[in-house]
Amino acid sequence: MGSAEEEYYPRKQANNTNNNMKHKLQILIAVIFTNLLTIYIFNGPSLNVKNHFSSYTNQLSSLPLWAASSNSLSQELNSTRELLLSSQSVIAQLNEKLNSTNFLVQALLDELARKNERLSSDQLWESIYERPGNSEVKVAIGPHKLPLGNFPMTGSNRLLPSFGAGCLRLQEELARYMTYDIGGECPVDDVFAQNLMLKGCEPLPRRRCHPKAPSGYKEPIPFPDSLWSTPPDTSIIWDPYTCKSYNCLIDRKKMPGSYDCKDCFDLEGREKTRWLYDNGGLDYGIDQVLGTKPRGTIRIGLDIGGGSGSFAARMRERNVTIITTSMNFDGPFNSFIASRGLIPIHVSVSQRLPFFENTLDIVHSMHVLSNWIPDAMLELILYDIYRVLRPGGLFWLDHFFCVGPQLNGTYIPLIDRIGFMKRRWNVGLKLDRGADKNELYFSALLEKPMT
Ligand SMILES: *[C@@H]1O[C@H](CO)[C@@H](O)[C@H](O)[C@H]1NC(C)=O
Ligand SMILES: *[C@@H]1O[C@H](CO)[C@@H](O)[C@H](O)[C@H]1NC(C)=O
Ligand SMILES: *[C@@H]1O[C@H](CO)[C@@H](O)[C@H](O)[C@H]1NC(C)=O
Ligand SMILES: *[C@@H]1O[C@H](CO)[C@@H](O)[C@H](O)[C@H]1NC(C)=O
Repeated sequence: MGSAEEEYYPRKQANNTNNNMKHKLQILIAVIFTNLLTIYIFNGPSLNVKNHFSSYTNQLSSLPLWAASSNSLSQELNSTRELLLSSQSVIAQLNEKLNSTNFLVQALLDELARKNERLSSDQLWESIYERPGNSEVKVAIGPHKLPLGNFPMTGSNRLLPSFGAGCLRLQEELARYMTYDIGGECPVDDVFAQNLMLKGCEPLPRRRCHPKAPSGYKEPIPFPDSLWSTPPDTSIIWDPYTCKSYNCLIDRKKMPGSYDCKDCFDLEGREKTRWLYDNGGLDYGIDQVLGTKPRGTIRIGLDIGGGSGSFAARMRERNVTIITTSMNFDGPFNSFIASRGLIPIHVSVSQRLPFFENTLDIVHSMHVLSNWIPDAMLELILYDIYRVLRPGGLFWLDHFFCVGPQLNGTYIPLIDRIGFMKRRWNVGLKLDRGADKNELYFSALLEKPMT
């Protein structure tokens, strides 16, 4: 258990057992020390302390009460002083040995304490459930006994719901999230729930309540018209958003202020032409990219952080099925994508991709993967993309933003290290929003090797 993970767990329970055990161990160690000391005194390798001490006592006792001469007294004193000096050095050496033993024992103790903590994970769980009002937490994240006995695949008699480890360090928030009327209507808490996800509580635990339904929901716009139609305002609940209509979201591109994917809701604007034209630079065209592979072999894929879903829409028109991951930052992106007849999944970039290895023909990501992501995390994401791509699959890294030295210093070596082949590579200055000369984009068409 790493130190970061340790702070995820409540330690109260574990500490009690630890202290108890620590106390017992300390007594044991005191006994060991006493014995060590005795053994050392009687069998010390270089200096026989016992003899020194006994001859010292002998000499003291043979010391005349009234010294015959100051000379013999001085000799006696001299030899006594020597004895004392050598005893002192023996004691110093002993001290040192004990000190190093002490360190070993302390390390041992720490290790034992950690083992002990690991063993009491059931107690840790219980300490979460036992919080007042946490009965739904227990239902949602606790282990459940299998009614038909052991599960043959795991040999376990329990089934454990999965949820983000970060939930455990957010116990107040988790308790709030899990407070609702069972069988009733869930609280409208989309923003709160999404923030929990972003803090590592991803996936969220399941709940036994019904999401509030939009009033006045109508059947969706039929496909294929749905691909490029703005859905009716009645199709969603606007509660968490500053905008209360799609027109408001569309108009947002004209307003000051920064929003995630500011112009994405306007299907008549920039969305309409994205990926249709290849400018030979940073902007690749979908047809040009698909043209790098035999016709029809790019069939299924993923768009990471796909905004309002236009990439999936354009691919759908080419008979390619794309799943779009999107968070609802500042807007109902997931609902919007679904209204277009495309598949949204609500996951952050932190989560392992829910696809098996060597399965997808293409992964695309625009603007999302960039230098805001910590290097270690980005490396894991890129390995994950490599994992889910089939051999010969394409990774279209679209407009990755970074500053000059990071390109050669960090990102090119990283991409090479993962093992992608570069089919196409373009670097350009960031021209939007009046950027300085050091700010760059690169676009890349990468391919997972066939072997
Ligand atoms: C005691 O030791 C000191 C210094 O080591 C020496 O000068 C002195 O002669 C010694 N005295 C006797 C009586 O040995
Ligand atoms: C024991 O070791 C610690 C750490 O190395 C040191 O700070 C301390 O002074 C040592 N004590 C003795 C008595 O040697
Ligand atoms: C997509 O598939 C349909 C049905 O198989 C076919 O008629 C159409 O031509 C295909 N479109 C493209 C762009 O390949
Ligand atoms: C990166 O290195 C290449 C050659 O290896 C060089 O041409 C290019 O200017 C470098 N780019 C930056 C931003 O340093």
